[in-house]
Amino acid sequence: MEQFALDAITRVTTAPPEVYDTISVDPLTPTIGAEVSGVDFSKELTEDQVAEVRRAFLRHQVLVFRDQELDNETHKRAAGYFGELHPVALPAKDSDPHVLEISADKDSRNVAGHGWHADGTADLQPSLGSMLYITRTPEVGSGGDTMFANMTLAYDMLSPAMKEMLDGMTAVHDGLLAWEGKTPPPEYDVPKHVHPVIARHPETGRKLLFVNNIYVSHIEQLSRRESRAVINMLCDHIASTALLHCRVRWTANTLVFWDNRCVQHHAIWDYFPHSRYGRRVAIKGHRPTA
Ligand code: SIN
Repeated sequence: MEQFALDAITRVTTAPPEVYDTISVDPLTPTIGAEVSGVDFSKELTEDQVAEVRRAFLRHQVLVFRDQELDNETHKRAAGYFGELHPVALPAKDSDPHVLEISADKDSRNVAGHGWHADGTADLQPSLGSMLYITRTPEVGSGGDTMFANMTLAYDMLSPAMKEMLDGMTAVHDGLLAWEGKTPPPEYDVPKHVHPVIARHPETGRKLLFVNNIYVSHIEQLSRRESRAVINMLCDHIASTALLHCRVRWTANTLVFWDNRCVQHHAIWDYFPHSRYGRRVAIKGHRPTA
């Protein structure tokens, strides 16, 4: 591995250890993800707990809370500790406008999030983060894991020359691409916005790679052919650099909270024709800036 990539990993693996008083945090990997215990979201959290969860969130980007008993109200309250709720883009009739049902079974021909992406990046203000609560895992006893990838480390591991080229570039994120040739319903105002290719995390100040395979149509400053090659190269870097990843194995009633500003995820659909069911609540974010 090149020295600049080793330097990037070293910065993560030699960060000073964290100390928490009200929660326990057990990292899933040195680069991304942690299991958190000592939090019961069915009860009100103390200010200290919320502050420590927030600190762990900024450090690990993906937090896993096992054995949570949540209905829609306590699920929304849990997300509400970290900001205003982000409404569902196309809510199902009579459903809660802030709760997205995630479900797959023998009749599914596609599932939400099967492919590396961050949520809703074609929006002007993509969400800050999501809390996904899986209540039913596939009957086979395994499958339906979700993978997550660290976009600050993905940026840090690029060569200095590549960083210099990408800095200042902008990419078009087109919501229509996620429909894969199907026609969205007429009431859906399909979002399409331009965001920096290299964005900055609004809280940590860290630079991060902000392109994904589902929404990005092209990089504005490049020819179409150059743009396709660069997007493919960056998405391949994200998908095939295993040290950027963690993989969450769901058990029923697990809640996972990820930072949508600096994390991509991929829901693995390896359990067809079995079923998986859950609910997702998202938190409002800001327009990404360079
Ligand atoms: C998604 O939010 O993209 C779905 C993730 C999952 O079902 O694991």
